[in-house]
Amino acid sequence: MKDNKNNTPVIKMEGVTRVFETEETETHALRGINFSIYPGDYVSISGPSGCGKSTLLSILGLLDTPSEGQYWIDGENVSNLSMNGLAEMRNKKIGFIFQSFNLIDELSVLDNVALPLTYREPALAKEQIVEKAMACLAKVQMEHRAAHKPNQLSGGQQQRVAIARALAGDPAVLLVDEPTGNLDSKNGDAVMQMLADLNAQGTTICMVTHDPRYADMANTQLHLLDGKLLADEQVKVAV
Ligand SMILES: Nc1ncnc2c1ncn2[C@@H]1O[C@H](COP(=O)(O)OP(=O)(O)OP(=O)(O)O)[C@@H](O)[C@H]1O
Ligand SMILES: [Mg+2]
Repeated sequence: MKDNKNNTPVIKMEGVTRVFETEETETHALRGINFSIYPGDYVSISGPSGCGKSTLLSILGLLDTPSEGQYWIDGENVSNLSMNGLAEMRNKKIGFIFQSFNLIDELSVLDNVALPLTYREPALAKEQIVEKAMACLAKVQMEHRAAHKPNQLSGGQQQRVAIARALAGDPAVLLVDEPTGNLDSKNGDAVMQMLADLNAQGTTICMVTHDPRYADMANTQLHLLDGKLLADEQVKVAV
């Protein structure tokens, strides 16, 4: 990771474990995960199907809670937050980008991007929200489609709008799950270039990807196997 270890990490996990229990079985999806993400980092997480990537991203995004272990966001221990506390933290600190875009088809592009701002900054006047949303659309070169509906856009354009929406709340970290899974290689490459540009401008990113070409664009590549993070010397053997 970058040479900014004196800063407070945006994300810090210690001994994070996640066990899914059903009547017959216990699945150890994560086993003692330790890692930190610092401001400005671009971290990729790779590994085979079932190794725990989505489980880790859900916990990072406060959509799920660890069975054991501690987790800090911007220095605040989130392990003991209530449901409301978790939702508030998620709104304030986390931006999500999913494989399937998850835009609301009934709303215009502009309103999709503005929606999280209306939750997050209720004190803002409508004009200020529109101004902020347009600035985010400009970052992904989509201002010219502000009045369109998502289903009038190409897949690559929809993903760019989803990136603008994730940026609107000015999150501490962008969590990205297989952002190119529904895109052809040209649009996939363009979206990845956009994420790299955003990181170059200071956005902190943590991305799950199967694609080694895209994992290589991150400044730190983490590899998960069977619920554990591999040490650097293990990666050469396992990958
Ligand atoms: N809700 C759940 N209940 C029980 N087991 C679960 C649950 N969610 C995940 N698992 C199990 O936990 C393990 C890790 O799953 P996870 O979805 O994190 O894998 P992944 O690395 O994201 O895989 P993929 O690349 O296929 O998306 C798997 O063995 C999975 O079957
Ligand atoms: Mg997954």
